[in-house]
Amino acid sequence: MNPIATVILAAGKGTRMKSDLTKVLHPLLGVPMLFYTVDLSLNGIRAEKTIVVVGHQADQVERTFQDAPLDFVHQEEPLGTGHAVLQALPLLKGFTGTVLILCGDVPLVKKETLWSFIETFWRNDSTLAVLSAVVKDPSGYGRIVRDPEGWLERIVEERDASDEERLIREINTGIYCVRSSFLAEGLKEIGKENAQGEYYLTDLAEVARKRDLRCSAHMVANPIEVMGINTRLDLARAMDILRQEKLIELMLSGVTVIDPKTTYVDRAVIIGKDTTLHPNCTLQGKTRIGERCVIESNSKILDSELGCDVVIRSHSVITESRIEDEAVIGPFAHLRPQTEVKAKAKIGNFVEVKKSIIGRGTKANHLAYIGDSLVGEETNIGAGTITCNYDGVKKHQTVIGDQVFVGSNVELVAPVKVGNRSTIGAGTTVTRDVPDGALAISRVKQKNIKGWNKKKGFQREKKKKKG
Ligand code: UD1
Ligand code: MG
Repeated sequence: MNPIATVILAAGKGTRMKSDLTKVLHPLLGVPMLFYTVDLSLNGIRAEKTIVVVGHQADQVERTFQDAPLDFVHQEEPLGTGHAVLQALPLLKGFTGTVLILCGDVPLVKKETLWSFIETFWRNDSTLAVLSAVVKDPSGYGRIVRDPEGWLERIVEERDASDEERLIREINTGIYCVRSSFLAEGLKEIGKENAQGEYYLTDLAEVARKRDLRCSAHMVANPIEVMGINTRLDLARAMDILRQEKLIELMLSGVTVIDPKTTYVDRAVIIGKDTTLHPNCTLQGKTRIGERCVIESNSKILDSELGCDVVIRSHSVITESRIEDEAVIGPFAHLRPQTEVKAKAKIGNFVEVKKSIIGRGTKANHLAYIGDSLVGEETNIGAGTITCNYDGVKKHQTVIGDQVFVGSNVELVAPVKVGNRSTIGAGTTVTRDVPDGALAISRVKQKNIKGWNKKKGFQREKKKKKG
């Protein structure tokens, strides 16, 4: 098989996005737009080399993809698509085969489409091939001009096209296959005598034809795949298409999605079979969810791991947390980063947990804040319990043992340790360690004043009469 090297064009600013962030870094279903093209090259095509041409916010783009096996080249000034590919030539020295040129802002292309394009290019024995599409509204795109036999004659940009050429509805998608042997020589011959004064990559076709080299255009079956993203409107359209694709993939793998119209699942999220997603839930980042879980409405889960048979009740927000099998969270729970909820534990309504481990079978069912804490197994945390983890300067840890009973409205002033099987009386402020099995109680002894009701009752009655 003929080796393939990919050049991805990603140096443009993306002016029409009206953004401080360079276009190819805008997120699409939880990953930067450029990720899709990079993934196509690395995993879809398994290219021998993937070169990314960067310019605007180059450092940021490189940093975002620093772990991927990519070669970056800089285009200092955006002098056109031809000039952009020219920058990649030094890295293609010694490479013999097919150079596949992709655009970083065309994320919906399928690997099957690219393979069919590449194979046709090989079968036709062409020097250059362009992936084209027939669209209803070709405005803004380069037009495909074919010779009487149907081979590609040239590509003409809209601004440089004649009235007749503008009527052509077959457009250039910006995706090409070029023989490496021709690319370097061909690029040298490209000028910038055109409406934009840029080096157009599209001029390669004419250069090849002048040398009697065969050029072809391969039509894509579904034009949606080659939509370029130029505005936020395009971004939203692409997002919707990718979102539905992801949901279809999940449903076909055994996940129940009650309302696909309002369910948001990022590309990298993994969900086990027989899990049910209720309307309006958002699962983001690197979230992994096991089998038979239930995620109720309006919950948002980011970069978290859930075991099997976990229930997330409505309106819960979970970030960078781990939840083990059969745990129940919510409704209205907030699990913040570095929270671990062990198997069968329960975190109920209006409970916030941060950077803490909640032991197996432990319950914090109502209104509590647990931060920087280690809570053992089978412990009960009463309503209104607060771990006072912050002294205004530093954070401190609270350690609560196994089978502890923490009564309602307890403050645990960290750093503090509560021993196994101990009991904390309701309303207690714990400032010293509690030994195993002890009762800690710090509330003021109750005083009963006799006859109070009569006295007060008299006054209240008088007030009532007045009013
Ligand atoms: C280009 C094509 C046009 C095609 C359209 C498809 C040319 C001359 N025209 O036009 O025929 O129909 O794409 O979307 O190629 N880029 C750089 N450096 C530059 C200029 C662009 O890296 O100096 C990158 C951009 O970041 C982008 C891609 O190349 O990823 C395409 O550039 P863009 O300016 O969008 O080209 P179009 O005018 O859309
Ligand atoms: Mg464009």
